[in-house]
Amino acid sequence: MTFIEQQVVERLHPRAVRYFSSIGSTNDEALAWMAAGAPTGAVVITDEQVKGKGRLGRVWHTPAGSALIVSVILRPQVKALSQITMMGALAIYDVVKLLGCDDVGIKWPNDVQLCGRKVSGVLPEAVWEDGLLSGVVLGMGINVSIDFQNTELAQKAISIEPVLGKSVDRLDLLSSLLRQVDYWADRLGSLELFETWKNRLVTLGRDVQVQTAERIVSGFAEMVDQDGALWVRQADGHVERVIAGDIALG
Ligand code: BTN
Repeated sequence: MTFIEQQVVERLHPRAVRYFSSIGSTNDEALAWMAAGAPTGAVVITDEQVKGKGRLGRVWHTPAGSALIVSVILRPQVKALSQITMMGALAIYDVVKLLGCDDVGIKWPNDVQLCGRKVSGVLPEAVWEDGLLSGVVLGMGINVSIDFQNTELAQKAISIEPVLGKSVDRLDLLSSLLRQVDYWADRLGSLELFETWKNRLVTLGRDVQVQTAERIVSGFAEMVDQDGALWVRQADGHVERVIAGDIALG
């Protein structure tokens, strides 16, 4: 079932909302709206995303009616910036759990996994002007009913509906997700947010391989620090602090 614009706007009232039946990227639209003075908490929602942006320059394509695709405009303090990515993962983790899914975890840094496969993506984009943070767009995509069978992602990606065995109302999911985003936005910069994110990671205490922009770091995922960086103990005992990368577990 497709989103109906009027229902979306009514359900999210009084939040500022821009709805599109199809769009290139909700993040791009939200970035433009933020530059034009959108209120904090404003959201961009679409039914179909044809030029979605993923982490590390990847493409994130979403067929119509099969996922929750949303970008939220935030204006956090600079010191809380590293928690934005944690917050997106936490909000998604919460709503997937609330739906009744059991086997849910966060793969460092912000992939929510369901039954060991990726069920969502989080892409925060910060905007700076003259050295000052003017805002952040927090883009989130949750796979609701995308069928990954017989695709190259079959072993890596998953949707909520086949796991739950019932259909999920995306409007309910959207309003639940934004409630959790608001909950964590009120706690940005807190130890509570960091500790909760850390406790939900499925990455720590395991052997990992992280592809960073420069190289591959292999070793034991020992800890995360409050900036969200992962500390990996390599075979020679040296501990490498990894800020960003693509991780493979086990
Ligand atoms: C990832 O690669 O894991 C992150 C994917 C993020 C996708 C979301 S969908 C909503 C928002 N708009 C985009 O263009 N990307 C993000």
